[in-house]
Amino acid sequence: MAPTGTSPGTSLGTPAERREGRLKVTGAARYAAEHPLPGRAHARPVPAAIARGRVTAVDASAALAVPGVLAVLTHDNAPRLADPEDATLAVLQDPHVPHRGWFVALVVAETLEAARAGAAAVRVEYAEEAHDVTLTADHPEAYEPEDANAGQPGVREHGHPASAFDSAEVRVDVAYEVPPLHNHPMEPHTSTAHWDRERDRLTVHTSSQGGTTVRDTLAALFGLPEDRITVVADHVGGGFGSKGTPRPDVVLATMASRHTGRPVTVALPRRFMPAVVGHRAPTLHRVRMGATADGRLTSLTHEVATYTSRVKEFVEQAAVPARVMYAAPHSRTAHRVVPLDVPTPSWMRAPGEAPGMYVLESAVDELATELGMDPVELRIRNEPDREPDTGKPFSSRHLVECLREGARRFGWARRDPRPGSRAEGPLLIGTGVAAATYPVQVAASTAEARALPDGSFVVRINATDIGTGARTVLAQVAADSLGVSLERVRTEVGSSDLPSAPLAGGSSGTASWGWAVHEACVRLAARLADHAGPPPGTGLSARADTAGQADAESSYARHAFGAHFAEAAVDTVTGEVRVRRMLGVFAAGRILNARTARSQFIGGMIMGLGMALTEGSTMDAAFGDFAESDLASYHVPVNADVPEIEAHWIEEADTHLNPMGSKGIGEIGIVGSAAAVGNAVHHATGVRFRRPPLTPDKVL
Ligand code: MOS
Repeated sequence: MAPTGTSPGTSLGTPAERREGRLKVTGAARYAAEHPLPGRAHARPVPAAIARGRVTAVDASAALAVPGVLAVLTHDNAPRLADPEDATLAVLQDPHVPHRGWFVALVVAETLEAARAGAAAVRVEYAEEAHDVTLTADHPEAYEPEDANAGQPGVREHGHPASAFDSAEVRVDVAYEVPPLHNHPMEPHTSTAHWDRERDRLTVHTSSQGGTTVRDTLAALFGLPEDRITVVADHVGGGFGSKGTPRPDVVLATMASRHTGRPVTVALPRRFMPAVVGHRAPTLHRVRMGATADGRLTSLTHEVATYTSRVKEFVEQAAVPARVMYAAPHSRTAHRVVPLDVPTPSWMRAPGEAPGMYVLESAVDELATELGMDPVELRIRNEPDREPDTGKPFSSRHLVECLREGARRFGWARRDPRPGSRAEGPLLIGTGVAAATYPVQVAASTAEARALPDGSFVVRINATDIGTGARTVLAQVAADSLGVSLERVRTEVGSSDLPSAPLAGGSSGTASWGWAVHEACVRLAARLADHAGPPPGTGLSARADTAGQADAESSYARHAFGAHFAEAAVDTVTGEVRVRRMLGVFAAGRILNARTARSQFIGGMIMGLGMALTEGSTMDAAFGDFAESDLASYHVPVNADVPEIEAHWIEEADTHLNPMGSKGIGEIGIVGSAAAVGNAVHHATGVRFRRPPLTPDKVL
């Protein structure tokens, strides 16, 4: 095979290696805590030890007596912040404790060890109030929010779902429950801030999915002009949504630096994370499906209850995918939310779609069983010709192709549909299928492209590479737009001094950034064509801003689709579920880098495997906190849990997206994969488990 991307205009789609790979595996890549600026100090927050109430006194004397401790910040002496748009960032501003784990003090010290010893020595007194952290669907404070996350309408109703359900020939009415889930990226939330008091300049290295927002937020909070702030997020060890917005670490590091005049690093201990970096809120689901005897949906209702904190409203939009998936003349999709004294939930990979499709796709499997119909065929029979909720035409929809291609590759035709029909000694073996969907989102971005006299090109954009390979794919986009070979293009990303760009989130990064990179490169190519001779010493450059273009409303419903297949073995002696095979087929527009795309897809599928079998935390009602807050108790899949896993995609040409023709791929891998595993467990055992994760205690 010829080396990839070496001829002009052929870079997109090739499996180009990620450019920072060597830096990462050799340890040369620096993360936010790894900037040992001269005089750098360390700070450690002190979490509240009550679930609700207020701080009545802080005695810092013992902490200040610890050798190396420089300062103890509390609501009494911390720098004042302007009111943040995001109330979770109003740290150390008042004595109020809205939930356990909320930070009530910060100890700054010469070393990490001293900061830790100092934090342990801070004595905080509280006036405690009664708390309520227990989610119930009929909670007296439950309400229907106008909007769920991402501005989705809280409730949608078409026709008469209740009466259509009552008169349906075949009915399924089921309740599911998804527990709290935690993002737990490999690199905890970490920031190193340096407020240079002489030059009145702030430089921050932070672990974030979007440095432009961090800069804008710090500017607003601290009243410093944006051009006096540089936010660097060069290498980021994952985020899964929890780094999509600034978190308290970056505010605290900045406060501490301003207070002490020293560069300060705040690295959140993993056990602090569940309380302050967001999590996927638990969701209680009720799904009702009515169908004709030949498997056509007549009524579809998906109702979700979830919680938010008392700090701010965040509503996991888990009923939203039911607005996209299947044709049903009568439908209702609705959210209810209960404000509780819990940590604030937030984005976690495929918010809404991940829990929503786990439940919807499990319920579709239940309907297939009820009908005695093949679950692949049932889905195909209910394929809509327009987006069910809005009536908009799809820009492209190849779910049926994904299901058929997946079934072929997986060997679905050999399946005996009878549950419990396949045994190997004490093991029961089953296979399951589920569909996937994720919306196409895109935001305006800016970018700059420059041609240098030596024939190379530099693309500059404040994109963030959170481990996805953004640097690499943007170089591919640029090389193709310029019509040059890939190795002639260099990309600079990860600093707010670069042209501003939206976050790596909502599976929108590559589409948003790539669009601006493409426009800048097309303009640069035109400029070069008009220019006689090589570019001058400083090069020739072009800028693009896709505002009004990328963010324009589309007349099409734009979503990626996919199909998951899984094979599970259930041990009837121990209750252990082992997944043997997972296979996903996706239709996500043009795939821009076959290597990094595969990583994204299988990474998502593995996260879905965790959701199905091991991940989940428990809100302790008396204590008001999650019982599982570290990786010893919150079990993410490890290599030994991930069996044979394949990700494939079908060629999809969609001209209604962006110049690259790509849909996002960061999140769709997790959507539906847990349902495929759950459906395989049902097929293996004949028992339907409706409260993941399927740990042995539940299965036995
Ligand atoms: Mo993703 S949860 O939009 O970072």
